[in-house]
Amino acid sequence: MLRCLWLRLSGAASVPGPGRASSRCSLLILCVSIRLCAASLGRSPWAEYYGTKSRYEVLSGVSVPGTDWLAPANCTVLQVNALIRHGTRYPTRKNVPRMVEIHQLIREQGDVGSSLVQALAGWHMWYNERMDGNLHPLGISEMVKLAKRLSARFPALFAVQSYKEKRLKFLTSSKHRCVNSTKSFIQGLESYLNLPDQEGGQWEVNDGLMRFFDHCEKFKNLVENNNTALHQVEIFKNGPEMERIMSNMAKKLGISPSAINANMVEATFYLCTYEFILKGVISPWCDLLEEEDVEVLEYLGDLKQYWKRSYGYKINGLSSYRLFQDLFQYMDQTIEESER
Ligand SMILES: *[C@@H]1O[C@H](CO)[C@@H](O)[C@H](O)[C@H]1NC(C)=O
Ligand SMILES: *[C@@H]1O[C@H](CO)[C@@H](O)[C@H](O)[C@H]1NC(C)=O
Ligand SMILES: *[C@@H]1O[C@H](CO)[C@@H](O)[C@H](O)[C@H]1NC(C)=O
Repeated sequence: MLRCLWLRLSGAASVPGPGRASSRCSLLILCVSIRLCAASLGRSPWAEYYGTKSRYEVLSGVSVPGTDWLAPANCTVLQVNALIRHGTRYPTRKNVPRMVEIHQLIREQGDVGSSLVQALAGWHMWYNERMDGNLHPLGISEMVKLAKRLSARFPALFAVQSYKEKRLKFLTSSKHRCVNSTKSFIQGLESYLNLPDQEGGQWEVNDGLMRFFDHCEKFKNLVENNNTALHQVEIFKNGPEMERIMSNMAKKLGISPSAINANMVEATFYLCTYEFILKGVISPWCDLLEEEDVEVLEYLGDLKQYWKRSYGYKINGLSSYRLFQDLFQYMDQTIEESER
């Protein structure tokens, strides 16, 4: 889910001469989505709560402590590895029907005397299942800009010659948003290098590495296809924190609390955040939630990822073994070549 595009670059053609042989380093950069930690937008109280949906863009000018890169004295960059998530996308096929469902419920059962209900009923539902998590135009421009920032930071590696000699390698998962992110990244790079007539660059689809979780039988049995693996998430979804949100929402809408379920609450949260991310508007959907509610929903998202992808089960981490083995082998190989 998170792993998407993998970029590899190695050594510039001019290998450091023997006199500088002691100044070798190899450098590894991992880009994963970082939560927006400064409310720099100052427009919406929810701006901080996109969880894994924070945009690269928002962080591009922000200095995140510990991530400023300074080359150690006399070191030469030999290689850059970047593991990059796809750019901003539309909602997925799973989430759109839930959005439609809460919208319809409000239109049919909401208190017509309420101005909030009127605003929501009059809101145009433009999300559809065909969007299916596709890359949004904003995602394209994010990838282009990311490519330019990385190139500017490592000019020795992101060079015309390296590119032409195919020493820049791009691996992607087969997900269309990932393939398109990869294309956009390459486009950004070509434009930065002033290579407008290239054929759109070369990339390789490798789900064995990039979607390692789909290729690990033990992970699939123990977690992915196991109905009880997310047991704690279910408990939280049915717990008092979620109950309180549903009853507040019901009160604001003049609807019976029993008509609202946890999936609709999540869909409301997504509607608020997608409208803000994709269109830059604070929609009336945001008014259905209080800041406290949004914290609960972000926690719910974290809890799910904790059990499904992260520390909850040991196999979640072990399933990425192949990817990291490959990555470290590649680093070792680059160091060896440089030493030769
Ligand atoms: C870096 O290289 C210069 C010139 O070769 C040398 O004078 C200096 O001591 C080196 N610095 C470090 C930290 O190795
Ligand atoms: C991917 O890009 C192609 C070509 O630019 C476009 O036709 C297609 O709709 C895009 N697909 C997605 C899923 O974004
Ligand atoms: C499913 O997950 C639960 C909770 O971790 C575990 O006890 C159970 O053994 C798993 N089932 C299978 C078939 O692996």
